[in-house]
Amino acid sequence: MRGRSCDSNGLVLRSDYFGDPLAWRAFCDLLFDIFRFDVSPLTVLGGPDPTSMPTGYFDADGRCIANLSAFSMPVMIDGKHIKAAGWQSGAVRPEWRGRGLFRDLMQITFGRCRAAGFEAILLTTRHPALYQPLGFRTVPQWRFSGPVPALPGGIPPARRLDIRQPDDLALIREALRCRQPVSDRFAVLDQSHMFLLNAWLSPSISLHWMEQEHCVVASELTNDERLSLLDVVGAAIPSLGTLIGATAAMATHVDVQFPTDRICADGQPWDARADPDEGATVLMMWSRHMALPHGPVKLSPMADF
Ligand SMILES: CC(C)(COP(=O)(O)OP(=O)(O)OC[C@H]1O[C@@H](n2cnc3c(N)ncnc32)[C@H](O)[C@@H]1OP(=O)(O)O)[C@@H](O)C(=O)NCCC(=O)NCCS
Repeated sequence: MRGRSCDSNGLVLRSDYFGDPLAWRAFCDLLFDIFRFDVSPLTVLGGPDPTSMPTGYFDADGRCIANLSAFSMPVMIDGKHIKAAGWQSGAVRPEWRGRGLFRDLMQITFGRCRAAGFEAILLTTRHPALYQPLGFRTVPQWRFSGPVPALPGGIPPARRLDIRQPDDLALIREALRCRQPVSDRFAVLDQSHMFLLNAWLSPSISLHWMEQEHCVVASELTNDERLSLLDVVGAAIPSLGTLIGATAAMATHVDVQFPTDRICADGQPWDARADPDEGATVLMMWSRHMALPHGPVKLSPMADF
């Protein structure tokens, strides 16, 4: 059978098995058991990313014991379109750890990505040492913050979207389909599955539709009225004053969670301060030419995976 072989532990190694409903269910169970992360809403959101290349070990009862998936995630880095893959859903059940299963999955997935012509691979992890032997390097991430600019008068309030409403979901999908990268320095070019799943699973994320500008704004507002701008999905990016005026006019501070090269305020580039983002999870990248992005960058949390 395609994509199957037995290994010395008596497990069955399977690739590209998301089309098999039982194997998909077993994969969802693995992610829930290990991370308490429920990916089953993806079924409502149109199914798993069709570019996914999962490889997993299954036992005789059909339980998914271990998995690592790659998926297509083209990115813009320093003005260049890069054919990149993301890696995600890397996990091994506790009773099977320490036997080299994950090392096998990394090597298989790495080989598949190279054979598929990916120039770069990105992942986020709390265990960077796992990936260093394959040549992955940590890309330091930054947060950008600055003053709220003057808000232009007469800005119509943006409409709050509800991703669980089919019409709103269709609108978000269409905006994602036509989007421009939110930064020319470091941003995803075409990846909608993680945006939709992150928005679905995170109640603190608000999505707004700006009718005139034809864009979806993803943001979070803290109790002390600090606005965190997560992503702007559209063909163009409105000025920061317009964005804030339409979505959170009461905000007193603004943090932007992606490089700000396309953000303007008061008719000029926004004067943002970059501070290291020192969370426990780090962004790692392998690149065929080892060309890491220059200057302070951050992957939009809406593209996080
Ligand atoms: C991390 C995890 C996937 C490792 O799986 P595993 O099958 O036990 O790993 P392997 O036995 O194949 O070990 C491969 C290598 O990684 C090393 N390694 C294992 N766990 C590690 C960790 N947490 N941090 C750093 N290195 C680790 C091993 O020492 C081994 O090194 P070697 O090749 O030099 O001998 C597994 O512990 C797990 O599922 N953890 C919980 C989920 C998680 O953290 N996933 C990673 C997502 S990025």
